[in-house]
Amino acid sequence: MATAKIGILTVSDRASRGEYEDRGGPAIREYLAEVLSSEWEPVERIVADDQALIEAALVELATAEGCCLVVTTGGTGPAPRDVTPEATEAVCQKLLPGFGELMRKVSLEKVATAILSRQTAGILGSALIVNLPGQPRAIGECLDAVFPAIPYCIDLLDGPYLETDESRLEAFRPKKK
Ligand code: MTE
Repeated sequence: MATAKIGILTVSDRASRGEYEDRGGPAIREYLAEVLSSEWEPVERIVADDQALIEAALVELATAEGCCLVVTTGGTGPAPRDVTPEATEAVCQKLLPGFGELMRKVSLEKVATAILSRQTAGILGSALIVNLPGQPRAIGECLDAVFPAIPYCIDLLDGPYLETDESRLEAFRPKKK
């Protein structure tokens, strides 16, 4: 089985200019390292909050790089420069609104401002794209909720068979392969 490539895209004006250290991208990488037991490889990018740049990075990760999953962090809020959901919607052939609905539901139990995140998910070619907020602590909170469904989603896209460390997080597959 080929190593699964997973894109990690940090969307942040300041991190892209090197004004502060990116904490979101590394938090996603650490989460995946903790949860996945099958072989995977991160492909990491940092872009500014610019819709054209975000779209180009999503397309590059999903097609040229062949990532089966692309997780973004940042740019999901209401501020003028927050355009990650718009970029995601523009490049995806299908949207999966359940991801955003569930992540906002669980996040609202932690923080009232979770309602400000417009995070979504969708399919670009054979990749699943999932938006997370920029706040590093949101990463585990959100991924714990939606990750159980991600390996089966990738099966349905004919991607690599992702396996999780079941003591940490159990992937739900309605049918065994
Ligand atoms: N979701 C979780 N789970 N935890 C958080 O701390 N922060 C919220 C929200 N979602 C947060 C969260 C805040 S303060 C904002 S402004 C929005 O996500 C959008 O964040 P972003 O623009 O950095 O993506």
